Formats: sequence, structure tokens, C-alpha cells
Amino acid sequence: MRPLRVAVLASGRGSNFEAIAKANLPIELVGLFSDKPSARALELARAYDIPAVALDAKKYTDRKTFDREFFARVAEAKPDLLVLAGFMRVIDDGVIAQWHGRAINIHPSLLPKYTGLRTHQRAIDARDVVHGASVHFVTAELDGGPVIAQVELDIRDGDTAESLAERSLPMEHRLLVATVDGVARGRIALGAHGVLFDGAPLNRPLRLDAERKLVA
Ligand code: GRF
Repeated sequence: MRPLRVAVLASGRGSNFEAIAKANLPIELVGLFSDKPSARALELARAYDIPAVALDAKKYTDRKTFDREFFARVAEAKPDLLVLAGFMRVIDDGVIAQWHGRAINIHPSLLPKYTGLRTHQRAIDARDVVHGASVHFVTAELDGGPVIAQVELDIRDGDTAESLAERSLPMEHRLLVATVDGVARGRIALGAHGVLFDGAPLNRPLRLDAERKLVA
């Protein structure tokens, strides 16, 4: 099996990137790409000997020009899969359409609930008792593409956005690593009518079992 060529896109801390870099997956990390030159994710990539590329979004007057240049740089690395891991941008429709079925994103909520920002606080404000994280295929709609896999966590009395984020992060890492593994092994794909797992359509998101393996 040829290792899947994976590019990770990150704007900040890069803990999800590091989880992928540390995991023993059948992939080749071909680059870490950031829209923020100060992102810690870039330092992490260099520490892991992975090419780190930053294009400063602030230096561009319009989104489309930035997105075109940024994704052209990404394409030069010839990735099979883009993993958006804390990549805090809304991407131009035409640009992201070129990666249809080849880009996934980790989002800290049980989609379709709470697309966008401040997801932990919004779950608390809504008095939800269950919260979680999702990995989905990326489409032009913000956090709106087909959901591949989810993890759930209980919201406890006294939880704050910070405490929820802290408990949710290691679960995000496990979910993202397992999903990248599933794509790399050809088990997960985007079909014409939604997500396919081992060739069969999914009617609900995959979950992690006790051994951190994805199950339907
Ligand atoms: C994660 O919570 C991810 O779900 C959200 O941004 C955060 C990124 O964290 N979209 P990190 O940069 O991977 O540490």
C-alpha cells in the first residue's frame, strides 16, 4: 500500500497536527501549511522534520487571492488528503471545490449543532448535557460537509468553555487520528450520496470503540 500523502492546514497551536505526526499511520506528512506565520503548529512541524509553509493572510487584501495562492502552495506538495486541524478560515467556494472528497476538518461540536465559533460556550448556554467533536468532509458550506465520525462527552455541572475544551481535546485527537487512518486504508471515502465506510453508505456518523477503532 502506498502511504497516503497528507497535508495538514493549521492556524494555531497544532495539537491535532502533533497527534497525527506522533501516531503510527500509513501516511506521509507532506507539509504543514498555515495562514498565520506565528502559529505554533509551524514550529512543531519543523521539530518533526515536516516541511512548514506559512503565507500571511493579513498581507492579502481579498480572501480569494489569498486562498488561490495558499492552496496552490498546498497543491505543490501533491497531497492526496488535506486535514484541516484548527484552520480558522472560511475558504473560497471555487478553491475548496477543487478538493471535494479530499479534505477533512475537525470541528469541536456534534455537527450539525454549533457550526462556527465558541462551540463549547454555546453548548453550555443551551444547557446541553452531551457535547462532542466531529470530523467531516469539507465543502463550501462552513462546517457543513458530510459528517464522517463523532465522539461524545458529557457536560458536567460547573463546566466552563475552558474545562470542556480541555476534556474534549484528547478525544478530538483520537477521532482525527482514527479518521485519517481510515482514509489512508481506503475504508472511508466520499461517495455521490454521502460518506462510505468499507464501501457501504453511512446513515449515522462513525464512533470510536474502546480500542479507539472506528465503528459504524
Ligand atoms: C481544535 O479544538 C479544533 O477542533 C478547532 O480548533 C482547535 C485546534 O486545536 N477547530 P489545535 O490547533 O489542533 O491544537
